[in-house]
Amino acid sequence: MTLVDPYGRRITGLRMALTPRCNLRCIYCHHEGEVSPGREISAEIAVNLARAGAEEGMRAIKLTGGEPLLRSDLEGIVSALPDRLEISLTTNGILLEDRAHSLARAGLDRVNVSLDSLDPRIYRKITGARDGDLDCVISGIEAAIDADLDPIKVNMVVLRENEGEVPRLIEFTRERGLILQLIELLDLNGNGLGGDLEAIEKDLNFRADRVVTREMHRRKKYFLDGAEVEVVRPMDNTEFCAHCHRLRVTSDGKLKPCLLRSDNLVDLEGAGPAEMGDLLREATSRRAPFFCDDKACHRC
Ligand code: 5AD
Ligand code: SF4
Repeated sequence: MTLVDPYGRRITGLRMALTPRCNLRCIYCHHEGEVSPGREISAEIAVNLARAGAEEGMRAIKLTGGEPLLRSDLEGIVSALPDRLEISLTTNGILLEDRAHSLARAGLDRVNVSLDSLDPRIYRKITGARDGDLDCVISGIEAAIDADLDPIKVNMVVLRENEGEVPRLIEFTRERGLILQLIELLDLNGNGLGGDLEAIEKDLNFRADRVVTREMHRRKKYFLDGAEVEVVRPMDNTEFCAHCHRLRVTSDGKLKPCLLRSDNLVDLEGAGPAEMGDLLREATSRRAPFFCDDKACHRC
């Protein structure tokens, strides 16, 4: 079976926030579009939903937060997820060193680690981290490499504060065989912190040996001298919505059809395994593109 929304977009995965809690305070954090996070989704609901998703033809689940490593039952959740789902984790990496191997043993396939700067002062300024946290993130990345998580992606949100560090991060990821994701700031508060990704992309285009456009969100991937750099641009991008194939789950256990809307959630509270399929279909039916420039479309 397959889930297809009213706009013909196939739902291939879940992006599940397991907690609103975080041990950092990034200046740009959009808190996964959550309005007033409350209680945390239970492991049971998380697992039952993922199992129903797999039965409905989903292929992947991404576990996020807040910071998902703050949940001590994370390994338990990962090990109970269906084998047929590719399981990935998005983390700030501070607690990763001690957990990378246990998570890999539990069945985690891949990891994205947020790392906006390699300069301790700038890193602290962007993330509110404490002294020594940056070293923990780097050790966490090394542990993930050692645990054979693959691929490992480094997420860098491009800001005015860190845009000069792109070459340094390219070098860092190249040396370790990682993929660098340059992420355009989703500036929900209009605070103008964003860096000049346009100029950075022009430079990448100029220097790249090869450029590939990935189907998902039409992401551009630049290969330059052994380095792999992906550019993720969500703002004002009708293509972003057209190629969105994921359903979100909020940390308090609600299906969220769109990152940028909070008026069409589907509550999972109290739902048993038998009801999960219907709830997934209901959330899928509520999906509508947020950015749309289809002049011939009269659906919204
Ligand atoms: N803009 C872009 N990406 C964001 N993230 C969080 N807030 C924002 C934002 N405002 C993403 C980053 C980070 C991950 C945890 O969430 O990629 O690495
Ligand atoms: Fe937000 Fe992630 Fe930063 Fe935590 S680490 S504040 S969840 S962007």
